[in-house]
Amino acid sequence: MASAAQILVASNRGPVTYTLDEKSGELTAKRGGGGLVSGLSAIGPDAGALWVCSALGDGDREAVRRGVAEPGVRMLGIDADVHATAYNGVANSVLWFLHHMLYQTPLEPAFGAEFRAQWAAYETYNRAFAEALAEEAAEGAAVLVQDYHLALAPRMLRELRPDLRIGHFSHTPWAPAEYFRLLPDDIAAQLLGGILGADRAAFLTRRWADAFTECCHAVLGPGIPSGTRIGVHGLGADADFLRARAHEADVEERMAVLRQEVGEGRRTIVRVDRTELSKNIVRGLLAYRELLDTHPEWRERVVHVAFAYPSRQDLAVYREYTAEVQRVADEINSAYGTPGWTPVVLHVKDDFARSLAAYRLADVALVNPIRDGMNLVAKEVPVVSDEGCVLVLSREAGAYEELGEDALVVNPYDVTGTATALHEALTMPPHERAERTKRLTAAATALPPTQWFLDQLRALDAP
Ligand code: G6P
Repeated sequence: MASAAQILVASNRGPVTYTLDEKSGELTAKRGGGGLVSGLSAIGPDAGALWVCSALGDGDREAVRRGVAEPGVRMLGIDADVHATAYNGVANSVLWFLHHMLYQTPLEPAFGAEFRAQWAAYETYNRAFAEALAEEAAEGAAVLVQDYHLALAPRMLRELRPDLRIGHFSHTPWAPAEYFRLLPDDIAAQLLGGILGADRAAFLTRRWADAFTECCHAVLGPGIPSGTRIGVHGLGADADFLRARAHEADVEERMAVLRQEVGEGRRTIVRVDRTELSKNIVRGLLAYRELLDTHPEWRERVVHVAFAYPSRQDLAVYREYTAEVQRVADEINSAYGTPGWTPVVLHVKDDFARSLAAYRLADVALVNPIRDGMNLVAKEVPVVSDEGCVLVLSREAGAYEELGEDALVVNPYDVTGTATALHEALTMPPHERAERTKRLTAAATALPPTQWFLDQLRALDAP
């Protein structure tokens, strides 16, 4: 029966995923990607929290079968079809698209019978979490439910265990009311009602919190019906961890390789993302191409280091986007490259140590998402960069609220404007770049992950 945890965290993706070697049968654990895991990982098993997450692939399922688990983690072996439908069909194809405003509305979305069937899987998936949490939680425990995958779980859990203190945290933006109402009314009401089952609904920025409140008014009528409190906690970078990790031997090794790929004495424009539709990698490449066109003096003198790690490859639209990133990068390299200079160094194989190496070498960090809950890369690069860096930042990233004053701010759709900002970044006088980096670092580390987490727990207790 119950392990009676006092603090529980619930999220779709857990701190590790397992890969199964078919031949040897060996399971290898690897750190999960994305902002949510980066933020929550700092908590670690020592905090005495239980992290409930879902098995995501065959390796995870095998780990659940064998009873292999990291300390402080319970992985749920939810039926593979139910999980795939809830995760790919609803969470990533509908809710992610809504909150990031990614639909091309003349054709999509069209909510018919197929969607209704997917929604039933989403409910089943949320119920599995609610039941596991109800089983594991001690009397009066605090449960922090994370993100859009689990929007229904707070209400379900509340019904099973009225004694618990429940928080919900959104790591994404929240859609404006007019856009949110693309959803069928009953589904919109269920989603909001699910989150309002929590005592507190929290967001990364004031902008997303306000959008949520507006959606409640538009869909459910004036006032937040359950009396759920709304909060804002802007997750920051973990400076101590990042700086220490960025000076380990494997990062140094990758820096040597990267220096060779870039070439002696050249400047770098660095970006690190999942190949995620909302990250706007292609327009970033187009802006870089415009920079080379309009400022030919940068040819041979700058390299765009772009790491775009595979993400959500079960979805065709993500596979197509990944191919497009590769195609545009190749096109730039064949149009402008010379025997001694590769204008775009694109890597698609996930490698955290190499990402840190790129952070250290960055002269300019390009973070230009169409829309983003926060974007931790914008906060991590200034902290880690060896010589200070200029941040070119989209005004649609949550990080803009905290870093906007010291970044060069761009409209993510404005390719020419982004090219201009890149030129400005590359020509910024060293003392100004140093000053800005100092202020960016201070703002980026204001709420480190452990503090961010503790603040949420404290706020849950407050009247
Ligand atoms: C974002 C979401 C997280 C998610 C991450 C990676 O940061 O807010 O909930 O875990 O992306 O996406 P994935 O689908 O690979 O878990």
